[in-house]
Amino acid sequence: MKGSAFELREDLLDPSSGKHYEGAFTQGNSYLQLRGSFEEGLACAPQNEKYWRLPANVTLEKQRSPRSKCGTYVPGIMGSHPLLNEEVVNLPNPLIFRVSCSLEALDMDLCEIKDYSRVLNLRNGVLARRFIWKTNSGAALECSYERFASRARKNLIVQKMTYKCIEGKAELRFLNDIDENVTTNGYSHFASNQKTPCDNGALVTVETDKKEKVWLETRAFGERLRFSEGTANISLAPGEEITVIKISGIMTSRDTDALLGPEQLSHLIKEAGSDYAALKAENDLAWEKLWENSGVEIEGDEEAQLALNFSVYHLLRGACENDDRVAICAKGFAGEAYFGHFFWDTEVYLLPFFLYTNPRVAKNLVSFRVNTLKGAMENARRYGCRGARYPWESSVSGTEQCPNWQYADHEIHITADVVYGLWHYYEATGDFEFIAKAAPVFVETARYWFDRVEFRSDGEVHLNGVMGPDEYTCLSSDNAYTNAMVRHSLEKTLELLSLLKERKPDSIKDLNIDEAFRSKALEIIQKIPVPVTSDGVIIQCREFAQMEDPRFDLTWPDRSKCFGTQVPQEKLYRVKALKQADALMLPFLFPKNYSAEEVKKNLAYYLPYTTHDSSLSYIIHAILLARCQKAEEGFELMRKALKIDLSDYHGGASEGIHIANCGGIWQAVVLGFAGFTPGEEKPVFHPNLPRNWNALRFHIVYRGQKYQVEITPSSVNVTPND
Ligand code: BGC
Repeated sequence: MKGSAFELREDLLDPSSGKHYEGAFTQGNSYLQLRGSFEEGLACAPQNEKYWRLPANVTLEKQRSPRSKCGTYVPGIMGSHPLLNEEVVNLPNPLIFRVSCSLEALDMDLCEIKDYSRVLNLRNGVLARRFIWKTNSGAALECSYERFASRARKNLIVQKMTYKCIEGKAELRFLNDIDENVTTNGYSHFASNQKTPCDNGALVTVETDKKEKVWLETRAFGERLRFSEGTANISLAPGEEITVIKISGIMTSRDTDALLGPEQLSHLIKEAGSDYAALKAENDLAWEKLWENSGVEIEGDEEAQLALNFSVYHLLRGACENDDRVAICAKGFAGEAYFGHFFWDTEVYLLPFFLYTNPRVAKNLVSFRVNTLKGAMENARRYGCRGARYPWESSVSGTEQCPNWQYADHEIHITADVVYGLWHYYEATGDFEFIAKAAPVFVETARYWFDRVEFRSDGEVHLNGVMGPDEYTCLSSDNAYTNAMVRHSLEKTLELLSLLKERKPDSIKDLNIDEAFRSKALEIIQKIPVPVTSDGVIIQCREFAQMEDPRFDLTWPDRSKCFGTQVPQEKLYRVKALKQADALMLPFLFPKNYSAEEVKKNLAYYLPYTTHDSSLSYIIHAILLARCQKAEEGFELMRKALKIDLSDYHGGASEGIHIANCGGIWQAVVLGFAGFTPGEEKPVFHPNLPRNWNALRFHIVYRGQKYQVEITPSSVNVTPND
């Protein structure tokens, strides 16, 4: 693959796209995550701003837009917000390194900056910034910054700053610091916050309002530099340069390491030393191993290649490799929108990438739902039902965290999506031990459905008052997607019970299954309606036909903005305007149940009503089009998905990465255009490549075996790897 396909570049210093690049340049090592902010901060963007963030409708919400929003996250460290519920806490910023030249502080907005560029190397997660600073004192400096969250040492962040005097005499002063005065969505989650400067840096200890302790430490090193209370001075004559290495660390009371605390963190920092090249080499090696399994080469399409690499990079950085107590939040831990919550995105959009490239991480994601069963059972009780009801928006406990009633109360398909994810994991890996352990999730969610569906006196079974994936239809009856997912989840529950009976009979006893359980499950399976018109179009919900035509020609004049921002919410709820794929999620998730002709009919019916206001939308349609031999049309939609985080149109990555779309892009390539069809003994491919793709090369792991795959317009080669 060409180097440029691994380089995300920013060549223009434009304050209006600053937040977008901060999101897009997010670095992480699966344990800690850092937005791509400047080391020295920006005077016009204080990070301690306090305000009330309201839980407005997610589509219409207006984000605060300061020039920059620094972000430091350790997934799992959640705070408690009076309006937003639990949210991921923005931790003190350990990246801070300030520099001034004859008392003029470096500030990318206020100073004279030339030849600016920033490049994120997607292959190893290193972010590099270069520019020339023409100072007021007459000195000019060539500045270069590099940094990474070490993939080899999970607690550590490594930074290198070089200043070369190219004109005049530079009187420099450095401050190595941690900014502890930060807020999350305008709110401070720190019950206590203590900073102690040390000779070459600082130590910060915070305790969150959920009683988690977080320790941060930073140390700076540089030949000829003598730091005191974090500061050091140096004069540079023309041609002279100085390099500073900054090593910082984060550790939390939630970590599972045997020894935890500030001394242990100090020890890790000391142990790392300050040899930048050596630390970078071990980081690069760790990333190289990840790319070996996860990289996909698209020959003939640089735009798609870059977007795919960008997506894979963020998936690899965002997933917790060694923690099954968290999933991946909707913004990929790259911003504070959606408050660090976990959605159905995990099972439907993100899981497949991990399942077929790194099943160990996939296991963490599915285990997260097993580990949060208790919370889901508490939810069910809150809603007056037995069993387990998974939250539309989950945090670490599994209780509902969605601050908006519409979604929290009605988007109950999540409970069936969770079971879909568990079964998908089992089918792709054959991991019987895991699925046996997950059995209580199947059984308890089934019990929830027994209470939630309506068994009518006339013998019919219905599921009313739900919101399907299309969040522009607020309350609907017999949403086809939800009903089909409930049916699937009960079918798999019965299948699992038979499996357990055969292979692990002792485990059945604890599940308290009786004949009534089986017959209720069967009754729902047989009777829950998933109606289809005589033309073969899946009926989204019973109300759909009666809803008003949205008349997009009149109501949506400015197509550069989301439809949802141009009409009142009550209108969204009563017209046939879809936010994203709804009924079409069924052929996407169950490709074998729908013929190409049926898929085409459903696309022809629903696409004209679909606004794609959700970033989860384009990619599903692209995949379906690819699967029914309309690769070029599918590719047109995929191109829109490729731009979601790569351009700052609609805000781009300002508030975080649209990580579900990243998982969707990988799926579009492998499960869409390459036509990977899981479910058989060996991996099977029915490719349908866009015209300009000359070849696809990638690895997949299927049922414990790794395969090397090469697809060209005229051939498919699948070779088992050792
Ligand atoms: C979408 C949901 C999605 C959520 C988080 C919403 O805008 O409608 O389907 O789960 O974003 O990504």
